[in-house]
Amino acid sequence: MYCVRNVTEDLYWVGANDHRLHLFENIHPIPRGVSYNAYLLLDEKSVLFDTVDWSACRQLLENIEHLLAGKPLDFLVINHMEPDHGASIEEILIRYPDVKVISTEKSFMLMRQFGFHVDGHECIEVKEGDTQTFGRHTVTFVAAPMVHWPEAMVTFDVTNGVLFSADAFGSFGALDGKLFADEVNFDRDWIDDARRYLTNIVGKYGPHVQLLLKKAAGILDQIRFICPLHGPVWRKDLMYFIDKYDKWSRYEPEEKGVMIAYASMYGNTEAAAQALAAKLCERGMTNVWVYDVSNTHVSQLISESFRLSHIVLASVTYNLGIYPVMHDYLMHMKGLNLQNRTFALVENGSWACKSGDLMQKFIHEEMKNMTVLNERLSLASALNDGKAAELDALADAILESMK
Ligand SMILES: Cc1cc2nc3c(=O)[nH]c(=O)nc-3n(C[C@H](O)[C@H](O)[C@H](O)COP(=O)(O)O)c2cc1C
Ligand SMILES: [Fe+2]
Ligand SMILES: [Fe+2]
Repeated sequence: MYCVRNVTEDLYWVGANDHRLHLFENIHPIPRGVSYNAYLLLDEKSVLFDTVDWSACRQLLENIEHLLAGKPLDFLVINHMEPDHGASIEEILIRYPDVKVISTEKSFMLMRQFGFHVDGHECIEVKEGDTQTFGRHTVTFVAAPMVHWPEAMVTFDVTNGVLFSADAFGSFGALDGKLFADEVNFDRDWIDDARRYLTNIVGKYGPHVQLLLKKAAGILDQIRFICPLHGPVWRKDLMYFIDKYDKWSRYEPEEKGVMIAYASMYGNTEAAAQALAAKLCERGMTNVWVYDVSNTHVSQLISESFRLSHIVLASVTYNLGIYPVMHDYLMHMKGLNLQNRTFALVENGSWACKSGDLMQKFIHEEMKNMTVLNERLSLASALNDGKAAELDALADAILESMK
């Protein structure tokens, strides 16, 4: 059975929802599922914008078949060749032998690499600024390299102001009947997954997202719909989401607040993290979020690190090193290029405490534009009354650095 929705009077969402996949990219948990969005334009010519993951191919085919009602598919525009969108290309080529494929040079190269028989079809290689008319609608193509792969582009329909934004402006979370961001409570129910999606998937490529945002700024007054490849379509309050993207891709925190990430085996470092959280709240800073790195998925830690201005790292010493899970979190922050945060450190060791110096060295040598507060809470096995002054000093220093 088909399952489609109108985006505009002649543009349809023909994608699918996936609640079976546990790990997106086989790394990131998606308890709320994910959608693979594809769009079909029925103009004088019919145009399919992107395909879906292989697991959702059958639904895509039923959706297209229903809307085409026996007519052929004329064009397939591929904005992004990553298999969560491109995997069903071959199936479309087989079913619609006369379909013409429009994409970038790099994307065609990737199609061939992935084993798709695209050369039996007319391939229209486009670059920045090229246009194509399908009847009433004319679209223009805009390069979007590294958002999220090098071949990516976005397509702008100048006739109705629809921006097919590829992976940009996407989110984890299945749509489950809803289509538009204004049909859900996005700021309450979706923003955390949208942030976790963007920061973990494209976080490293902030400057490339910025480049795309600058191009979008040039046509901002013309953009009426944003149609991403995952998550809801935007037709209202576009600036809400564009502003979030701007902050994330500039590595600017969204909020003044403190994330306390602790690594603890027996609970003593954990107790110190809790004591510090209480001290901060006592001083009026209640935007405090405490996470055990051992049982919080690193994609969540990353997302929170992008949201908040201050990060406290509290780690035991482990075989003269940083606790491995904490080290992994640090590696992810480095890998995703996070910048412009203020860190405070809590260290613990029972005979040779090293974790504080090692975390400080990592932040200074491996990451960019980070500040580490001088005040450090150093524990020998456990937090005791003798450390009360140090704990207060650390809380004061964090508050002071927030002014
Ligand atoms: C496998 C292992 C390795 C450790 N290596 C060190 C070490 O190199 N230096 C040190 O001072 N403590 C080391 N410790 C001890 C813990 O860091 C220490 O007991 C800590 O104070 C306990 O904090 P917690 O209650 O938060 O787990 C190690 C503990 C374990 C289990
Ligand atoms: Fe992608
Ligand atoms: Fe994607």
